[in-house]
Amino acid sequence: MTESDFIFNNFKISTLPSGSVTWKTPSNIALVKYWGKEGNQIPKNTSISFTLSACFTQTTLEYRERQPDKLISTSLNHQDYNFDIYFEGEKKDDFKPKIQKFFERIEKYVPFIKHYQFVIKSENSFPHSSGIASSASGMSALALCIMSIEKMLNPTITNAYFNKKASFLARLGSGSACRSIEGALIVWGAHPEIEGSSNLYGIKFPYKIHDNFKNYQDTILLVDKGEKQVSSTVGHQLMLNHPFAAQRFQQAQQNSSKISKILQTGNLKEFIALVESEALTLHAMMMTSNPYFILMKPNTLKIIDKIWQFRAETGLNICFTLDAGANVHVLYPEKEKEKINNFIIKELAPFCQENHYICDSIGQGAIQTPNT
Ligand code: DP6
Repeated sequence: MTESDFIFNNFKISTLPSGSVTWKTPSNIALVKYWGKEGNQIPKNTSISFTLSACFTQTTLEYRERQPDKLISTSLNHQDYNFDIYFEGEKKDDFKPKIQKFFERIEKYVPFIKHYQFVIKSENSFPHSSGIASSASGMSALALCIMSIEKMLNPTITNAYFNKKASFLARLGSGSACRSIEGALIVWGAHPEIEGSSNLYGIKFPYKIHDNFKNYQDTILLVDKGEKQVSSTVGHQLMLNHPFAAQRFQQAQQNSSKISKILQTGNLKEFIALVESEALTLHAMMMTSNPYFILMKPNTLKIIDKIWQFRAETGLNICFTLDAGANVHVLYPEKEKEKINNFIIKELAPFCQENHYICDSIGQGAIQTPNT
């Protein structure tokens, strides 16, 4: 599919004057990382992620038809969109520029948005100050709400198209958000060996996933609950003139091929080696950029060291991955859950801020919920 397949022009607002929709959309954790983009949110390499389940955003979008004389065209042909945002019950005007930018990017594909006055009400299942990025779940929830409006304006669209376009729109809000529509494993970024993969949207991993990865566990250790030191937008930009960029993008393509096979054969040892290497490479890119950053904290390293020791002693299939921050995602198979949970509580939780961690596992994607 190409970009033009996502343009929807034949709508009649009068058929849908007002209402509201609600979506609950999970976060995701990348196994092969997206770090570097170009143009209109086009990734420099393929990324593959597990969709999560306990960490989610729930967003309600209330819409009401605007009076035609209130539609003012501003510069660059963008309309002055009419919306307010509430986050966990509080009006959040500081979230507006990000949503404004999102609307500007998606207007071409969903031009009906300028005919509505919106109220966006969002909440996260995870604490706001947890260091967990909410752009993936937040942007995908909003994209799905907008798609629900499109579906009501045009009931003929199929579920497959609905999900693809939701992912396409979410990508324009935040790259990783395009991987938060469906589960359990999502591929984003064109790859010659992964059928149907695209730079425009995420797809469900198209091959049979080995049972070893069914209901895989992710315990998120909250090492640093503060605001991110480097926003991912800045981080992606650092890859533009990065001395190792070309090699990194090539490596990510190779790792995507490798992990595709690992996910099918169920080789846990190979999975661990690849996933940990991806996490450390992401941080190595930040440490070697200009300006440079260290996003890990001393406790991040202590946790990694403990995980390595425990794995060597027990032979259990525990490993870690990292986002662009200090928190650690501890990944392990469901059947080793009991022993590994005991270890986490005893040995790793003390390195978390206020002993806080979140128990999550692979999920099946976003769900529409009845309006509250
Ligand atoms: C380190 O999706 O947050 O989590 O497209 O600028 O919104 P934008 O970036 P974002 O980047 C996520 C980067 C990452 C790795 C990943 O999730 O693949």
